[in-house]
Amino acid sequence: MQEKPAQHPDVDNMIADLCSERPALHVDGDRNLADYGIDHHLASFLRSNLSAGQRSIETGSGISTIVFLLLGTKHTAVSPDEGEPERIRSYCEEHNISLRHYSPVVAASETFLPTLEQTAPFDLALVDGNHAFPAPCIDWFYLTRVLRKGGIMVVDDTQLWPCRVLADFLDAEEVWQQLVRTERVATYRLLAEPSEVLSRWWGQQPYVMLRSRSNLWARVSQLFFGR
Ligand SMILES: C[S@@+](CC[C@H](N)C(=O)[O-])C[C@H]1O[C@@H](n2cnc3c(N)ncnc32)[C@H](O)[C@@H]1O
Repeated sequence: MQEKPAQHPDVDNMIADLCSERPALHVDGDRNLADYGIDHHLASFLRSNLSAGQRSIETGSGISTIVFLLLGTKHTAVSPDEGEPERIRSYCEEHNISLRHYSPVVAASETFLPTLEQTAPFDLALVDGNHAFPAPCIDWFYLTRVLRKGGIMVVDDTQLWPCRVLADFLDAEEVWQQLVRTERVATYRLLAEPSEVLSRWWGQQPYVMLRSRSNLWARVSQLFFGR
């Protein structure tokens, strides 16, 4: 019988230790071990917004993956680096963290996500894979397809322009409710069905309207409504 998902009994201390210990789960350009993981603010956001048994997905993997596993979510992590699942597994084995609900996918998100079935929607999606433009937007698009209405989208590393422009776009959209936005991270609740959100034409997208300079309505809207 499948083990029921559960939070780690010492979840808060484990997350605190993980965020201060910061294991090197990535590799840099010279193939040396490195840490590019989420910070403790995002870890506590995940702690407050997820419960055991919920479904989560992320592009990229590392410290965030271990946080999801400590929280007991059924978790999919998509990253092309085959060393990351090995290093994550070995950290979890050393720290007695269950790997039962961990589904690593060794692939680039832009090739894997379009193939993902929409049958069982996710409760939370984290965009934190390739940060070069337009990768965060591609991840956001395909992750929105598999997010449930009411689910949460997280965009990390908004200090980088390709992530920030995505967050700025989402801030202007009434179908995404901003939850928290800091220098580094932006989080949103999806207020509509994914199919509705992804089929909007550009004239329904305030951020696009506002930046389409020839559009008179956008200027009027900016003047009167500030967006
Ligand atoms: C900033 S790190 C991720 C940090 C992770 N969330 C954590 O807390 O440790 C970026 C991640 O993106 C992965 N990555 C790079 N290119 C990718 C791609 N095309 N698709 C998915 N992941 C990618 C890297 O291997 C790395 O895991």
